[in-house]
Amino acid sequence: MKILITGGAGFIGSNVADAYIADGHQVTIIDNLSTGCREFINPNASFIEKDICDNDIVDIFTECRFDAVLHFAAQIDVRKSVADPRFDVQVNISGSVNILEAAARAGIKKFLFASTGGALYGEQDYFPADEKHPIRPISPYGVAKASVEKYMFYYYAQYGLDAVALRLANIYGQRQNPLGEAGVVAIFTHKMLRGEQAYIHGSGLQTRDYVNVLDVVQAFRLALGLNGFHILNIGSGIETDVITLFDEINRLTGGRTSRQHKSAAAGEQQRSAIESRLAKEMMGWEPKIDLKTGLLMTVEWFRKQ
Ligand SMILES: NC(=O)c1ccc[n+]([C@@H]2O[C@H](COP(=O)([O-])OP(=O)(O)OC[C@H]3O[C@@H](n4cnc5c(N)ncnc54)[C@H](O)[C@@H]3O)[C@@H](O)[C@H]2O)c1
Repeated sequence: MKILITGGAGFIGSNVADAYIADGHQVTIIDNLSTGCREFINPNASFIEKDICDNDIVDIFTECRFDAVLHFAAQIDVRKSVADPRFDVQVNISGSVNILEAAARAGIKKFLFASTGGALYGEQDYFPADEKHPIRPISPYGVAKASVEKYMFYYYAQYGLDAVALRLANIYGQRQNPLGEAGVVAIFTHKMLRGEQAYIHGSGLQTRDYVNVLDVVQAFRLALGLNGFHILNIGSGIETDVITLFDEINRLTGGRTSRQHKSAAAGEQQRSAIESRLAKEMMGWEPKIDLKTGLLMTVEWFRKQ
């Protein structure tokens, strides 16, 4: 198939692009390289350096006649979305609608989206959250993801664009940027391997649901086979607190770092875990890489860099 991947120079998008190319798909990547890396772009992909907000993006869609679009390009930093909600709206809502509109106008049949499980449900009523859990985002980033899911339904209903939103838990693994604010596994691993102090924000008792990027790659492979409109959680259902994560990465990197805490980030969610029974029913997906194994793989990858 001819596939367009936005954000294909980034952490998750580049891993998915590699897998799709290995599967024999013809992949085009659009990325403005704001957080992505040129080195992550698969040499067998066509690359267009471009912003998803550009008005003329529809020309690429009509020219290339893609069979499917995978939309990963985004402003991914929850704290930045709190500091500058208007910028978040511009990229994460307007940019996404720009891509959906171009896809509809070019008659594309399928749209897959990297939504969020963590930031969308907000503080959860029950654990792990399923897809029926109330949507109560406490950040502009989460509000934007919820809005894009609604737009996807609109494009599905109005134009017959098959649309699948995968609500991803906290994803970690090879190629995650260790220099941003998001991605605690990458930040801890990078600092600890360099012998630098890594800090735990707040008590460290806040929990997240960690899924390895290679499991997410498999979810996006399977989602390509779905027709219609679907929203599916992609999580392990397991909560892990930051202290446990810190201690495990410290152990894997030589055990030289002592625990030190910094003030908690304003508005940070306390607990998060999502269940993926529906993803298993609909497309046979379940996570295969447990956290211990995944952290070991990640530390080995960072060590080689
Ligand atoms: N990493 C996670 O834990 C996680 C969890 C849930 C959802 N997601 C979503 O998955 C997607 C990929 O995230 P990631 O972790 O790989 O982040 P990333 O920053 O590595 O990837 C985002 C990519 O999009 C590109 N990009 C950003 N703004 C752009 C713009 N305006 N125009 C064109 N390209 C642009 C960046 O250069 C980068 O290559 C995002 O939509 C993110 O919200 C990630």
